[in-house]
Amino acid sequence: MKIFVCVGSSCHLKGSYHILEAFKQAVADNHLEDDITLSAAFCLGKCRDGVSIKIDEEIVTGLSLETFPDVWQTKVLKPLGK
Ligand code: FES
Repeated sequence: MKIFVCVGSSCHLKGSYHILEAFKQAVADNHLEDDITLSAAFCLGKCRDGVSIKIDEEIVTGLSLETFPDVWQTKVLKPLGK
């Protein structure tokens, strides 16, 4: 699974750095280094909706540290069957 976190200027201002860090931490905590490739991406074209990420081909918007656990659970762990 490939996860791209938008670090375009709009998402950066909304805290995408912290989201990227949260993903790094969650990947390490769950020992998913072999399952997940984490990268930064430039603008995904969804600037209005909060921090945007792309999980494989699906764009997920509106990430914040509050919504992170839910996204992690439903969009990452579940599809991986964890
Ligand atoms: S800057 Fe992130 S979607 Fe545009």
